[in-house]
Amino acid sequence: MRTEQSKTIYLKDYRAPDYLIDETHLTFELFEDHTLVHAQLVMRRNPELSAELPVLSLDGQQLELLRITLDDRELTAADYQLSDSHLTLQPTQASFVIDSTVRIHPESNTALEGLYKSSGMFCTQCEAEGFRKITYYLDRPDVMSKFTTTVSGDKQKYPILLSNGNPIASGSEEGGRHWATWEDPFKKPAYLFALVAGDLWCVEDKFTTLSSREVTLRIYVEPENIDKVQHAMDSLKKSMKWDEEVYGREYDLDIFMIVAVNDFNMGAMENKGLNIFNSSCVLARAETATDAAHQRVEAVVAHEYFHNWSGNRVTCRDWFQLSLKEGFTVFRDAEFSADMNSRTVKRIEDVAYLRTHQFAEDAGPMAHPVRPDAYMEISNFYTLTIYEKGSEVLRMIHTLLGNQAFRKGSDLYFERHDGQAVTCDDFVKAMEDASGIDLTQFKRWYTQAGTPRLAVSEAFDATARTYTLNFTQSCPATPGQSDKLPFVIPVELGLLDARGNDLPLRLQGEAAASGTSRVLSVTEAQQSFTFVDIAEQPLPSLLRGFSAPVKLSFPYDRDQLMFLMQHDSDGFNRWEAGQQLSVQVLQELIGQQQRGEALVLDQRLVTALRSLLQDGRLDQAMVAEMLSLPGEAYLTEISEVADVEAIHGAREFARQQLAEALFEPLWQRYQANREVSKGTPYVAEAEHFARRSLQNIALSYLMLTGKPEVLAATLEQYEACDNMTERLTALAVLVNSPFEAERGKALEAFAEHFKDNALVMDQWFSVQAASTLPGGLQRVQALMQHPAFTLKNPNKVRALIGAFAGQNLVNFHLADGSGYRFLADQVITLNALNPQIASRLLAPLTRWRKYAAARQALMKAELERILASGELSADVYEVVSKSLA
Ligand code: PHE
Ligand code: ZN
Repeated sequence: MRTEQSKTIYLKDYRAPDYLIDETHLTFELFEDHTLVHAQLVMRRNPELSAELPVLSLDGQQLELLRITLDDRELTAADYQLSDSHLTLQPTQASFVIDSTVRIHPESNTALEGLYKSSGMFCTQCEAEGFRKITYYLDRPDVMSKFTTTVSGDKQKYPILLSNGNPIASGSEEGGRHWATWEDPFKKPAYLFALVAGDLWCVEDKFTTLSSREVTLRIYVEPENIDKVQHAMDSLKKSMKWDEEVYGREYDLDIFMIVAVNDFNMGAMENKGLNIFNSSCVLARAETATDAAHQRVEAVVAHEYFHNWSGNRVTCRDWFQLSLKEGFTVFRDAEFSADMNSRTVKRIEDVAYLRTHQFAEDAGPMAHPVRPDAYMEISNFYTLTIYEKGSEVLRMIHTLLGNQAFRKGSDLYFERHDGQAVTCDDFVKAMEDASGIDLTQFKRWYTQAGTPRLAVSEAFDATARTYTLNFTQSCPATPGQSDKLPFVIPVELGLLDARGNDLPLRLQGEAAASGTSRVLSVTEAQQSFTFVDIAEQPLPSLLRGFSAPVKLSFPYDRDQLMFLMQHDSDGFNRWEAGQQLSVQVLQELIGQQQRGEALVLDQRLVTALRSLLQDGRLDQAMVAEMLSLPGEAYLTEISEVADVEAIHGAREFARQQLAEALFEPLWQRYQANREVSKGTPYVAEAEHFARRSLQNIALSYLMLTGKPEVLAATLEQYEACDNMTERLTALAVLVNSPFEAERGKALEAFAEHFKDNALVMDQWFSVQAASTLPGGLQRVQALMQHPAFTLKNPNKVRALIGAFAGQNLVNFHLADGSGYRFLADQVITLNALNPQIASRLLAPLTRWRKYAAARQALMKAELERILASGELSADVYEVVSKSLA
C-alpha cells in the first residue's frame, strides 16, 4: 500500500493536462461477484499546449484490464505500460478514442471509495480520487467531460438504476436484467460522477425555479425509511429558494436526486444532479432524530445543493484549491442556517466548534494553510482548516466588502468562470474587480497557516477626550512556516458607556461620527486607532460576531465581563463575555486543584448565571448557550500544558456548585418548559429548539444534585416524551448519574426499542462512549462486542470509538496509556479496511505535544507502534509520520 502514494505532491508542480476528454461514455454491468466497466473516452491533445504528442498516462488503481482499443485498434501488452496506478500509451494523432473494459469488485470494497456496496445497494464515492478505482481515466478536476452512463443489473435486486443528469433510455435484457441510460449535459470532472443501483423507494416533489422551470425532486431511501424523508425534502426546497434569492442561482437540470446510504465516509457528496448522502444527514423525524440532527440535515442538504454552483458549475483546478468550493459553500450554508433559525445561536455554535477543533488543528502537526502547498494523500486534507477556516476567510471578505459588493463579486465569479476549473486567486480576483478593493495582503489568509494572536490594550485621555486601542498581531510558527507576515484582520467593535449604551464612533481625522459598531482593519504588526469625543472611560466590545478567526486578548476583569454579558448590543459578544468569565473562573479552579488547595468557585459566575435564568425576556436558546460552560476540549486547547484530571475536576466542581446554588431557578425553568413540551407536538423550528435546549441543559445540571424529584422528572421525560431530543437527554443524564439501576433499565429499554434503527443505535453508543464515570474504556470495549456494532460502518466507528477518544477525555487519557493503546489497535485494524476512517480516528493521538512528559511518551509510543505495524495506507502514513516529525 505505501509505495508510490506516499510521495509528496506540490502545488508549484501544477501543469495543465496534456490531453482533454470531451466525451465519456460508460457502461456498467453489475453482478454479485464482480462488475464490468466499459469506458469510451473521446480525447484530444490540449490545444493550449504544443502540437507534439506526449505520452498519455491514465490513472487507474485496483482495475483488472480486460481489453483496450485505440481508435478501434485492439492494443496488446506491447502497446502500453501498466503499473499499479497508471496505464501509459503513446497516441499518434491529436484526436483519438480510447475504449477499455475493466473488471472491478465493489462487493469487497471496504474502503468505500470508488464503486462499492452498502446494505445491498451499489453506490459510488469519487471525490477526490475514487474514479480511478472505477476505470482508467484522467482523474483530475481540471479535466471536464460530458458523460453518458448506462447501468445494467438484476431487475429484482436493483429496480432503481441512477446516474447523473437526465434519464434518456431504458429497457429490459435477458435473464431478468434491465438497464437505464443517463445523460449529463454539463461538463464535469470525474470526481462528480455518481451511480446508484438498488431497491429503493422515493419521495417526490416539485420546485418551480425563478424562471418558471419545473424541477422534479426525489429523495431515495431504503423502503423502511420512507417515513423519515420529509424534513430533508422541506430543507431542499428552502435551499433552492434561498440560493435564488440571496445569490441569484437557479437549478439547471430537470431532476435533482438525493440518495441515502448507510455506509459513507463523510457527511454527503454533491455529485451532479445525484447527491449521495450518509443516511445520518438525510433521515430525520421527531421520534428518532434530535433537534441537532434535524438542523444538521437541513444544513447538509443545503450545503450539497449549493455546491451545484459553488463546486460543480465552477469547480477547482486542482485539489490545492479545495477551499475554493468548500470554504465558500460552508459560508453559504452557514448563512442559510442563520436565516432559517437563530443567527446568533448559529454563530455561537460555529465559533465554539472552530475554536475547539480548528484552532487545535492549526496548533498541531498537520497544520496547513487554507490553500495548502503540499500533500501526500488528498483525503487527509478534507479538514476543519479547509472547511471551517475557509468559511471564515469568506466571511471576512464579506465583512470587508459589505453585502452588496460581495454579491456583485459572486455574480462576476460565476459569470466569468461558469464551466471552468479555477483557483482561489480567480475567486479573489472577481471580488477585487467587482468591489475595487485590493485584497493582495488579505490573501495571506490563504497561504499562511496558524491562528493569529491579537493582543489589545487601551489608553484613555480624559483631557483630550480621546480613547486609543493598540493592536499587536502575531502568528505562531507552523510546520514549514517559521515567520509570518501580518494579516488583514477585520475587527468589528463598539464602545460602551457606563450605562452600557454604545457610543457614537469617530476616529481621529474623521469629520463626523458614523455608527456605533464599526469594522477596523488591522493590517500592521502593531497599529493604534484613536477615537475622539470620548467623555468618559468606555468599555470596548471587541471582535463582535467573531469578525476574524483569531485569538484576541484584552485584559478584562471579571466585573467588566459581567457588565458586557448584560449590556453588549452584540448578542455574540454577550455570550463571549460569559465564556471569558467562565474560562477565568475555571482556570482559577484548575490552579487550585493542581496546588492541592480546596476549590472555591467565584460567586460572580453564580450571580451572572442566576440573573440570566431569572430574566424571562431573554431568548431561551441564548440562555442555554450561556449556561454551557466551555468544554474540556476547549480548555485543553487554551492550556499551555493540558492537565486532564485538573480540567475535568475543576469543570465538574463548577457544574456541581452551580447546580446546587441555582437549583430553584433551574428547576422552575425546567418544569415550565417541560410542561410546554408535553402539550406541544414536535416542531423542528427555532423557537422549539430554544425551549428544549434550555429545558435539557437545566435537567443535566439538576441531576447533579441527585435529588429524588429530579430523578423522577428525568424518568418521566424519558418515558413520556414524543421526541428523541428529550429522550436522549434524559438517557444521557441517567447514564452519567449515580442511579445505577435506573441507568441500566433505561439503556436496555432503549436498545430493545430501537435495535432495528441503526442511526438511533449510533446515539445509544455515543451516549455511553461519552460517559465520564470511571471504567469508560472497559465499557467501550464491551460495546464493541454488541451485535449492532461493526468496524465496517463508519458511523458506528465514529459513534463509539470516535466519541470515546474525542469527547471522553478523562477516560481516554488514562494515566497508564491503555486508552491510547486501544485507539492505536483500532487504527491498525481499520488501516487495512478503510484508510480514510483510520486516518481520521488518529487525530487525538497527534495532539501529544499538549500534554505533560509522561503522557507524551505514551502517546508517541503508540504512534510509533502504528508506524511499525506493517503496510500502512498513504492516509495513515502521512498523519503518523508528520505527527512524529
Ligand atoms: N465534497 C463533500 C462535501 O463537503 C465532502 C466529501 C469529500 C464527501 C470527499 C466524500 C468524499 O460536500
Ligand atoms: Zn462541501
